[in-house]
Amino acid sequence: MDYIKVEGGRALTGSVRVYGAKNSVLPILAASVLTSGVSVIENCPRLKDIDAMLAILRALGCEVTAEERTITVDSSGPIAAEISAEQMSALRASIAFLGALLARNGRAELFVPGGCELGSRPIDIHLWALMRLGAKIRQQDGRLHATVSRGNGCELVLPIPSVGATENIMLFATACGGETVIVNAAREPEIVDLQTYLNAAGFSVSGAGSPVIRIVGGRKTQPTQVVHRVIPDRIAAATWMCATASAGGEVMVTGVEPEPLALLGELLAEMGCGVQFVADAVTIRRVGSLQAPRATVRTGPYPGFPTDMQPLLMVPAVLAHGQTVFEENMFDSRYRHVPELNRMGAEIMVSGKYALCGGIERLRGASVCAADLRGGAALVCAALCAEGESTIRNIEYIDRGYESIEDSLRLLGADVRRVRG
Ligand code: EPU
Repeated sequence: MDYIKVEGGRALTGSVRVYGAKNSVLPILAASVLTSGVSVIENCPRLKDIDAMLAILRALGCEVTAEERTITVDSSGPIAAEISAEQMSALRASIAFLGALLARNGRAELFVPGGCELGSRPIDIHLWALMRLGAKIRQQDGRLHATVSRGNGCELVLPIPSVGATENIMLFATACGGETVIVNAAREPEIVDLQTYLNAAGFSVSGAGSPVIRIVGGRKTQPTQVVHRVIPDRIAAATWMCATASAGGEVMVTGVEPEPLALLGELLAEMGCGVQFVADAVTIRRVGSLQAPRATVRTGPYPGFPTDMQPLLMVPAVLAHGQTVFEENMFDSRYRHVPELNRMGAEIMVSGKYALCGGIERLRGASVCAADLRGGAALVCAALCAEGESTIRNIEYIDRGYESIEDSLRLLGADVRRVRG
């Protein structure tokens, strides 16, 4: 298995470009089966999770091409209703096909999804909501049989603002009669991007970005082709910002949207980094020592601090003077990078949903294993500032969400390489 080797201790300099958000591209690809036409999706990163989604679309009968960073999906032909267990288990976002196929075909035969192990990741809210809209769903040994003869819009009050459930409802509701109102909807920028795509495809969705989303179903103008440019990946941008805060140096991250990075920018500035947003770029500079942020870093649904940034921010926090307290509120197993960081000398304490860290002079190189995507990226950031050599294994997790992380970091001056083996 391939692994990443890092010789730590080099500051980062230069600029790095961010492409489209993985978590926007994935539901938009599922949505492309709704259009019965051609979708041209621009600014797509080249990632393993996206390849897995394209494989599903091809198996369903879509014609798919991927050139550079533009993906074209033609769903005008007949579309199958079945997805294999293997394809569903490749990634969590495959569950978006439940709503999409029900809307397109009135039927979906698939399996519970896979994805990063961040604790129990049920789909009960997805199923409850689609059933409230009129779908009949039977679950047996991980298999999902779903049918609908006539979906009817209604008001759905979500118990928690689940990103995936909000997306699934948006997709299915496009085919339901009347209006569907999602109350306590997820407000993430990726939800707004899905709305933008759906409206460009001729559907009628409003309110994304606020807690109430309205979908008027059953009504569609028929554009022959949808062209959509995906929003920038805020988590990839956060990765380069936290890498610079950890390793030191000065890096300009380009192609970003400032708003979703503002909270992280404020925290890094409080910790002693120079952070400057200009148009669609952010420059981050760290020369001196770091200070722990005063307040607890609490993860929460957008506009709260993103759970995906928690492992990344933990690396500079370990090196800061004073103690940083993290409170993980989104997933029950999202500290799986902690034992690995501790092998590098981080001395992080975890108790339930809290993690306490800080005051470490320097990390030391070690052989560590990624257990999920963002935790794996955090280990690479830690290796950049550790003394000596580190190896990071299980990098297939990292490849799910980063286009060759080692190439981006090498361009910034880091001594990082992928070892094939
Ligand atoms: N939840 C339920 N029941 C459900 C759905 C969710 O209990 O039916 C719970 C989950 O177990 C979790 C919480 O609700 O504790 C939030 O889950 P949510 O549904 O919002 O997350 P998701 O759709 O599974 C997406 C991203 C994740 C990101 C989270 C939170 C995609 C493909 N994944 O997951 O991204 O961490 O939202 O922002 O969009 C990543 O990119 O590495 C990643 C894990």
